[in-house]
Amino acid sequence: MSRSIVAGNWKMNTTPSEGKALVQKILSEVPQPGTRVIFGVPAIQLMQIQQIVSGHANYAVAAQNIHEKESGAYTGEISAAMLVDAGIEYVILGHSERRDYNGEDDDLINLKLTTALEHGLKPIYCCGEKLDIREAGNQEVVVGRQIEQALYSLDPEQMKQVVIAYEPVWAIGTGKTATNEQAQQMHAYIRRMITNQFGSDIANNTSILYGGSVKPGNAAELFAESDVDGGLVGGASLDAAGFAAIIRAAR
Ligand code: PGA
Repeated sequence: MSRSIVAGNWKMNTTPSEGKALVQKILSEVPQPGTRVIFGVPAIQLMQIQQIVSGHANYAVAAQNIHEKESGAYTGEISAAMLVDAGIEYVILGHSERRDYNGEDDDLINLKLTTALEHGLKPIYCCGEKLDIREAGNQEVVVGRQIEQALYSLDPEQMKQVVIAYEPVWAIGTGKTATNEQAQQMHAYIRRMITNQFGSDIANNTSILYGGSVKPGNAAELFAESDVDGGLVGGASLDAAGFAAIIRAAR
């Protein structure tokens, strides 16, 4: 099975009308993508976008968060069961913005991962270091710890469902992209960590996406690296022509 995935993370952007128009335009530009394409959309648009992409091979939808509990008195939250019942296949977890602005740490993210997997939702698990860590040369220590705390307690069958996104925090929304070498080096390191815990079969089938200022102009060279299986794209996923170009750049 191909590891190739291009996922858009719309964050808190687009109204339902704008989201609908955006997806329809991308579908008409790339009706038959050669890679899996995932739209990570705001909660209010999940069902609408799922309905639009259903029946289009290789297209899927991701939520941007879930609550770790099954159900109950958690005002404003969305559960894994709700997403599954709505036909949603993926959920983005561990994004640096949720770590920073919502205080999510790897223990909480591990609970959310487990809840998602128990319901059959596929997590897109985000990890990545901040600028001071990169400047001190400690990026592998920090990302290694994130991978270990969030993923090592999963059983092998669960790990097969996980997509990893390496997103250096200093590259998110900054226009500053990791070099191809920096991305490849970290992706290879992450794959070695998955090999150590889960074996090479699982590691070699795990999709590891790069995120952080992916654009039409740099996507092809990043995706050409042997351990970079695609991208998690923020800003550039909001432009139909640009996102279509990134989809075409996937191998
Ligand atoms: P960016 O965001 O592409 O706008 O840098 C990536 C992300 O946060 O997933």
